[in-house]
Amino acid sequence: MSEVLASSEGGVLTLTLNRALKMNAITRAMYTELSGHMKEAAGDFGIRVVVLTAQGSNFTAGNDIFDFVDAPPTGPESEGFVFLQQLHNFPKPLIAVVQGNAVGIGTTMLLHCDVVLATPSARFSMPFVSLGLVPEAGSSYLFPQLVGYQRAAKIFLTGESFSADEAKEMGLVSTVTDEALQEAMTLAKKIANQPPTAVINTKALLKSRSHEAVSAVMDVEGELFRMALGSDEAMQAFAKFMETRGKS
Ligand code: COA
Repeated sequence: MSEVLASSEGGVLTLTLNRALKMNAITRAMYTELSGHMKEAAGDFGIRVVVLTAQGSNFTAGNDIFDFVDAPPTGPESEGFVFLQQLHNFPKPLIAVVQGNAVGIGTTMLLHCDVVLATPSARFSMPFVSLGLVPEAGSSYLFPQLVGYQRAAKIFLTGESFSADEAKEMGLVSTVTDEALQEAMTLAKKIANQPPTAVINTKALLKSRSHEAVSAVMDVEGELFRMALGSDEAMQAFAKFMETRGKS
């Protein structure tokens, strides 16, 4: 079965990460699938809203670390970066539903979503520095803008995680509830029934203030991130992770 499930109903496309045994760590193939679905959804007048969700008890443990080692991204055309561009430029509302761990891109992708709902079990982290890497997805711009410089610096520089309630208080999450998926679907249907052009134009207006700035930051982050992936600091961190875990 595919590791990204897609289903649509009533103008709502639901994309579900489906690799629960590996905590939904995202592989290059999964990025390609996600990008393909999003590209199609952007051009399909029948799709009005996209819901991003995941199977099992975790949202995602972030980029697959074995992939980082075996086939690191080499440029902006690499699968993960293409997916991030799709998210950044996606014209229709994106709603995310988070449970359990949301590591790395699992948290940074939320900064591109229009509404995020979480269960009380959600735990967010961006341990890029701890892995010898740098923030990505425009998060070095978007996160301090959301939570303030010092709070963002502390989280990035220590790699420490934060809870669903903290994420709500920061404004990263709109709602914390055990019924996150159901509430997300109700919200998605409500938006899908709104006049579609007005919805798209309103999202564009909401994002317009920071869109160009985020694009520029993403380019710089991408270059630094790709360089960092080959560094001794990153290799040591990945080796430590892989020592105790299986690849397949
Ligand atoms: N890449 C590849 N596989 C991953 C993964 C990742 N990012 N995160 C988890 N997995 C796999 C593990 O290899 C393990 O598979 P196995 O049982 O076949 O060995 C399985 O998912 C469960 O993970 P495990 O580490 O045993 O669970 P845990 O509850 O002890 O720890 C985390 C959970 C999220 C703290 C831990 O998995 C982790 O730190 N993952 C890496 C997160 C990360 O650094 N992501 C990259 C950010 S840029």
